[in-house]
Amino acid sequence: MRMDPAPAVAVSSEAALGPAYLDGEFLPLAEARVSVLDRGFLFGDGVYEVLPFEQRRVLFGAEHIRRLERSLAALEIQRPLPAKDWEPILKRLARDAPWPGGALYLQVTRGAGPRLHLWPEQMRPTVLVMCLETPQRDLQRGLAVISCGDIRWDWCHIKAVTLLPNVLLRRRAARAGADEVILTRAGKVVEASSANVFMVRDGRVLTPPHSEHMLPGITRDLLLRELDQAGLPCAEQPITLRELRAAHEIWLTGSTLGVAPVRLLDGQPLVPPETPLLPRAQALYQELKQRPGAAWTADA
Ligand code: PDD
Repeated sequence: MRMDPAPAVAVSSEAALGPAYLDGEFLPLAEARVSVLDRGFLFGDGVYEVLPFEQRRVLFGAEHIRRLERSLAALEIQRPLPAKDWEPILKRLARDAPWPGGALYLQVTRGAGPRLHLWPEQMRPTVLVMCLETPQRDLQRGLAVISCGDIRWDWCHIKAVTLLPNVLLRRRAARAGADEVILTRAGKVVEASSANVFMVRDGRVLTPPHSEHMLPGITRDLLLRELDQAGLPCAEQPITLRELRAAHEIWLTGSTLGVAPVRLLDGQPLVPPETPLLPRAQALYQELKQRPGAAWTADA
C-alpha cells in the first residue's frame, strides 16, 4: 500500500563528482580507479565513515576517526594511516568540494589480492575519500517510516561497507512510499537503515542503548550528551515497537540528516504535543556544530 506519493528525500541524479583522495594521491573522482581484485569489490570487505561538512568545516572529525579505527580493529584491517593524518586530507577535500556543504565519504577496504575467503596476512588497504552531495530535503514536514524486522547481521556496531540488507530495506520503504525503515529485533526497536532512533513520551527522550545490533551513531551520542547537559530528561533504554507507536515524537539522527522528525509510522500520523521537544533538540545540535573544536576548518 502506498502511503505517500512523494518521499521527503530526493537525490540529484547529476551530482558533480568533485575531488577525491585515493591511496595517497589527490585526483578528480572521475579519474580514480581501484583493482577489480579489491576485497571491497569482491566481498564488501571494508569499513567506512560519512563526515558532514558545512561552510567547508568538517564536523566531528575526531569522533568519526575514532569510530573508523574501532571498525578497522574489529575486522582486523590494517590501519592505513596514523589517526592524525586524516585531518589534512579531509580538510583539503572539504575546501575543494564543489559545494560548501555536504559530506565526505571515507572508505578503507582490506585491499586487493587473490579471490580467497581467507585473506593473506600482508595486505595493503585501499583508501578512498570522496565528496558527497547532501540530498535536497524537506525535513520540516517530517519523514514517513515503516517498521520491519532487522534482516542484517549481528555486528551492526561495525560500520562495514557491506550494506546490502540496508539498501534492500530502504528500497522496501520507498516501495511503501516511505523514507526510512525502523528496524526491530524480538519486538525491540534497533535503529533505521541509515540513522538512529529517538522517541519522546511525556516529555522524556528515550533511545535504545548501545548494542552489537546498532551503530553507535556520532549524532546520537552527541545529541544525547547535549540533551543531558541541558537538563532534559533523557535515557538510553530498550524501546518496544508498541511503545514507539505510543510516542509523541520520533526523531531520526545521522550525519547527513541531523535531527529529523518522523510524521508517519506505518501510515499512522504522530500527534506531537503542544510544545514538542524537537526544536530544542535541533537547536542544541546546531549550537554544538558551531562550538570551537567541533570542526576541522581548512586553511584558505
Ligand atoms: N549512516 N545507523 C546506521 C545503520 C547508519 O548507517 C548511520 C549513518 C547511523 C547514524 O550514524 P552517524 O550519526 O554517525 O552518521 C546510524 C551514514 C550517514 C550512511 O551510511 O550514509
